[in-house]
Amino acid sequence: MARILITSALPYINGIKHLGNLVGSMLPADVYARFERSRGNETLYICATDEHGTPAELAAAEAGQDVASYCQEQHIAQHDIGRKFGLSWDWFGRSSSPQNHRLTQHFAEVLEARGLIEERLDQMVYSIDDNRFLPDRYIEGTCPHCGFEKARGDQCDNCGNLLDPIDLKNPYSVISGSKNLEVRDTRHLYLLQTKLQDRIRAWIDAKTDWPLLPKSIALKHLDEGLIDRGITRDLAWGIPVAKDGLPRPGFEDKVFYVWFDAPIEYIAATQEWADETGNDWRRWWRTDAGADEVRYVQVMGKDNVAFHTVSFPVTILGSEEPWKSVDYLKAFNWLNWYGGKFSTSNKRGVFMDTALELLPPDLWRWYLLANAPESSDTAFTWEQFQSGVADLADGLGNFVNRIMKFTDSKFESTIPQGGEAGELELKLYEDVGAALADLTAQMATIEMRKSAQALRVLWTLGNQYLQAAAPWTAIKTDPVRAAVVVRTALNLAALYARVSAPFIPFGSEKIAEGLGVSFPPQWPGPDIATELNQLTPGAKIATPEVLFVKIENEQVAEWTERFGGAE
Ligand code: 2FM
Ligand code: ZN
Repeated sequence: MARILITSALPYINGIKHLGNLVGSMLPADVYARFERSRGNETLYICATDEHGTPAELAAAEAGQDVASYCQEQHIAQHDIGRKFGLSWDWFGRSSSPQNHRLTQHFAEVLEARGLIEERLDQMVYSIDDNRFLPDRYIEGTCPHCGFEKARGDQCDNCGNLLDPIDLKNPYSVISGSKNLEVRDTRHLYLLQTKLQDRIRAWIDAKTDWPLLPKSIALKHLDEGLIDRGITRDLAWGIPVAKDGLPRPGFEDKVFYVWFDAPIEYIAATQEWADETGNDWRRWWRTDAGADEVRYVQVMGKDNVAFHTVSFPVTILGSEEPWKSVDYLKAFNWLNWYGGKFSTSNKRGVFMDTALELLPPDLWRWYLLANAPESSDTAFTWEQFQSGVADLADGLGNFVNRIMKFTDSKFESTIPQGGEAGELELKLYEDVGAALADLTAQMATIEMRKSAQALRVLWTLGNQYLQAAAPWTAIKTDPVRAAVVVRTALNLAALYARVSAPFIPFGSEKIAEGLGVSFPPQWPGPDIATELNQLTPGAKIATPEVLFVKIENEQVAEWTERFGGAE
C-alpha cells in the first residue's frame, strides 16, 4: 500500500468560487483522491481557504464586515458548498490558523538564519488621503505593458504580467479612488530566490514525469532568471512578522505576503487535521519521519505554477530541514465563460452555489472534467454543456436502467443463477480489460479528458454487449442463456459504479446501492472474469429512480438569458 498526499491550490476566501476555479484544482484533485483511496492506497487530500492578502481585506470591506468574521463566514460557506459538490477533502483548513502562523514564522526565521532572507529598503506607493500604503490590489492603474486601464498593483488581468505597483501609470487608490499618492520608503523582507536558482533548476530537471504545462512554465521562469521577492506587506491582516517570538522591530505594522504563507498552509492544514483527529502529520511531511515514502501530488491552475515550482520550493529546500516536496504537479489552463474570463469581482459566469441550484453535482462534475482545460484554454457554453452531459443519461444511465428494469420484470428483481460464460462474454472480458487498463493508467496521471474518454468506451461496451446478447430474445427460447447475460450485465453495471465513482460519486453510489455493492467502492483489478462475477446470484436488486437528468432546450434558453453569454 502506497501513501499518497494530495493538495489542491487553496481557494481565496473572497467568495464562492466559479466553475473555472473548481475544474482547475479542487475537482481533479478530488477525482484523483477518490481513485487512490479506491485502489487501497492510504490517501490524504488536504485543502484550505487562502485567507490573507488584499483579496480578503477588500472583499471584507465590500461586505461591510471586519476581516476575521468575514473569513470565518466565507470559510464555512466554501466548505459547505465543496462538500455538496462531493469534494472529499480529508481536511479543509484555514490559512489563518494558529498552526500556519507558527509554521510561517518558523520558516521565515530558518530562512533568515540560512542567509536566504534579508531586510531591504523599498519604495512603495503611499496614499496620503487614505493614510496608508497601497500594496498589491489596493492600487490600480494603467498597465505599463499593454495599456489596460484597470491593471491591479500585483498583476495585469489583461496581459497576465506580474507588476510592481510603482510601475502603474495613472495609479489610484482602490479604497478611495484618490490619486493623491506618493512613493515612500519602507523596509521589507526579501526572499533571496536568486541564491537558489541552480538548486531549483536541478530539482525541476529531475521531474522527468511531469506534464508539459507545469514543466514549461517552471523552465520559462528559470530561463528568465529568478528574482528576489518581497515577502512582507504593509497590511494589518495576515501573519505578523516576528523575531524570536516577538514582533520584529520596525515590522510592527507589517505582515507576511499572502503568497509566502499560503503554500505553507498545505503543511499547517495537515497539522490542523492531525491536531483535530489525533493523527501524525509528520509521516506526511517530514522525510525523517517516513514522508520519504509519500507520493506528494499538487493540482492547480497555470497561474499558480510559478509559486509552486519556484517560491515554495525555495522555502522548503532553502530551509535545509527534512521537508517533503512535491513529486508530481498537475496544472490546468483556463476555463473561460464563452469568449471571456470568469470573473469573481465582476460576477461573470456560473459559481458553485448557483450551479447546484440548477442541476445535481454529477452533471457539473462530468462535464467539467470530461472537457477539462488540459492542453489549452476552453470555453463553457450552455449548448456544449447540454450535449456534453447527455453521455451520462444515454451511455451509463441507459445501460444500467435497461438491465435493472429487465431484471425486475423477468427475474423478480433477483440476480439470476446458472449457465456459463459464452463467446460474447469472453470477448466482453477482453474489451473491458483493455478499456479498464487504459482508464487506470490515465487516472494515475490525472489525465481527466482521457479518463473520461476511457469511461465512455467502457459504457459503450455495455450497451453493445446488451444489443448483441439480446436477453429479451433469449428469455423466450433459452432462459439459461438469458440468465448469463443478465447476470453479466448486472456485474458490468456494478463495475461501472466502481470506476465511475471518482467522476460522478452521487450517481455511482445509487447504482452501487441498488446492486448491493459497498461504497465507496474498490477499484477493479485486471482479472475481469473475476471482477464481472462479483455479485451474489440469488440476491435482490433495487432499481434506482432516474440516475441522470437531461438538460432540456428550454433550460438552455432560460439560463443563457439569465446568465448572459457572449457579451
Ligand atoms: O490563485 C489562487 O487562487 C491562490 N489562492 C492559490 C493559493 S495556492 C497555495 F499556495 F496556497
Ligand atoms: Zn497588461
